[in-house]
Amino acid sequence: MSEKVTVMLSEEEVDKRIQEIGEQISKDYEGKQVHLVCVLKGGSFFMCELAKRISVPVSLDFMSVSSYGSETKSSGVVKIVKDLDEPLKDKDVVVVEDIVDSGRTLSYLLEMLRDRGPKSLRLCTLLDKPDRRVVDVHVDYTGFQIPDEFVVGYGLDYNQKYRNLPYIGMVKLDEE
Ligand code: IMP
Ligand code: MG
Repeated sequence: MSEKVTVMLSEEEVDKRIQEIGEQISKDYEGKQVHLVCVLKGGSFFMCELAKRISVPVSLDFMSVSSYGSETKSSGVVKIVKDLDEPLKDKDVVVVEDIVDSGRTLSYLLEMLRDRGPKSLRLCTLLDKPDRRVVDVHVDYTGFQIPDEFVVGYGLDYNQKYRNLPYIGMVKLDEE
């Protein structure tokens, strides 16, 4: 079985939207420093592009989590594989994610990060699949709301492939 990828959101559309979010964050955090927390690996492409478009001072940190459960169904219990280097205490934190699907990973993660005492904590996601939501998560900045399709590119993978696509693609399995 092989797969085909078709374009859902072009590189131009994604770039334009990231520029808009960058401008919005720059406005919202005027006079402050924003601390971006990237959830690896999926959030990395989005975070780099977003950070370049923010005009207030930015600091960056990275964490990697894995959810207990199968690849396709997250259990909501998150194991920290790589923790942040810096404390969050008194920082204005924006968590940068690739996609919010069921919301299980993010709701667990945000609660854990809130316990570390940031001055503020917001969530920014490139993609949101609202139809799939199981756990309520408040998203502050959303790139695109998309239908319930499996997507790749811009950091998102299918079996670790396609993260490097400069657009958002839809995966269709080809049964041959
Ligand atoms: P959830 O919100 O806890 O269900 O899980 C979100 C995580 O599942 C994301 O951070 C992605 O790593 C992964 N994921 C969900 N939907 C997709 C998709 O369409 N393509 C690739 N990864 C996805
Ligand atoms: Mg992710």
